[in-house]
Amino acid sequence: MGKYKVVIPGRIMPSALAAIQEQCNVQQWEHPGAPNLSQLREWLQNAEGFLALSTIKINAEFLAAAPKLRVIAQPAVGYDNVDIKACTDRKIPFGNTPGVLVETTADLAFGLLLTAARRIHEGWDWVRAGKWPEAALPLGVDLFGKTLGIVGLGAIGAAVARRAQVSGMKVIYNNRRQRPDDQELGVEFCLFEDLLTKADFIVVLTPLTPESRGLFGAKEFARMKPTAYFINAARGAVVDTPALCNALANREIAYAALDVTDPEPLPADHPLIKLPNILIAPHIGSATTETRNKMALLAAENLLLGLAGKPLVTCVNNEVNYQ
Ligand code: GLV
Repeated sequence: MGKYKVVIPGRIMPSALAAIQEQCNVQQWEHPGAPNLSQLREWLQNAEGFLALSTIKINAEFLAAAPKLRVIAQPAVGYDNVDIKACTDRKIPFGNTPGVLVETTADLAFGLLLTAARRIHEGWDWVRAGKWPEAALPLGVDLFGKTLGIVGLGAIGAAVARRAQVSGMKVIYNNRRQRPDDQELGVEFCLFEDLLTKADFIVVLTPLTPESRGLFGAKEFARMKPTAYFINAARGAVVDTPALCNALANREIAYAALDVTDPEPLPADHPLIKLPNILIAPHIGSATTETRNKMALLAAENLLLGLAGKPLVTCVNNEVNYQ
């Protein structure tokens, strides 16, 4: 049996690459940065499998350039870069990697909250700049006794809630639908507008969909407490970026800590970066060696299962997952 033809548009963890190479002929973009799109299209003409990256848009036009494609696997939980219906129309199962990154991403979201609240990064800047002997340290705020509002309480949100509860916070949340297990989780369902006014800290973890795009704009920031901390670990486009800049500059809210921005990467001269009351991480929610390894291996497993005509372990469009 000949080897499957697979395209990989960037670098992946060596363990996953080795597993794929065992069964496949791989064409891989090995240089740093975004792949050359015309090269990618040329490779895709014969590709049966594609190991996608969140930075590449996959739509009907993209798929038309890949007539032999039978499976797409992406090492990420989010898939807002993918037109799932276009994949389903072509009967291509699309595999993502939920589950394996839950605790790691919750650590980062809560870590951003804590780091911002206690100004840990600013303190380090002080020490490094030799300012320690001066008097006026930047003061933070307590978590204990405060209310955390989570927008989008899925598995990662529930893991953030646990961390917050251990720190003595009350947790409220808003989802499209109330979770049946919210009492068990010790969290309280709240209307979106009410959450905005009640929360001292807001953590956003909702997927990017047509409904959530631009969910946080001028009106929403105006409703928040002037002491509110806004943490986004979901997708940058859930936020109207100019509105966030204004809210921070005018002190309508106290602080923002972001793991995701719109655009990404954020240019060095972007107005967000110039603000004094913000902390930005470069989209590192799942970026630990252990978790990136698990994500890459699950994506490789999905890819190889799809190529073999078997059901993917974690498939977004289950209606076309192999039976
Ligand atoms: C990261 O943002 C992911 O979707 O896994």
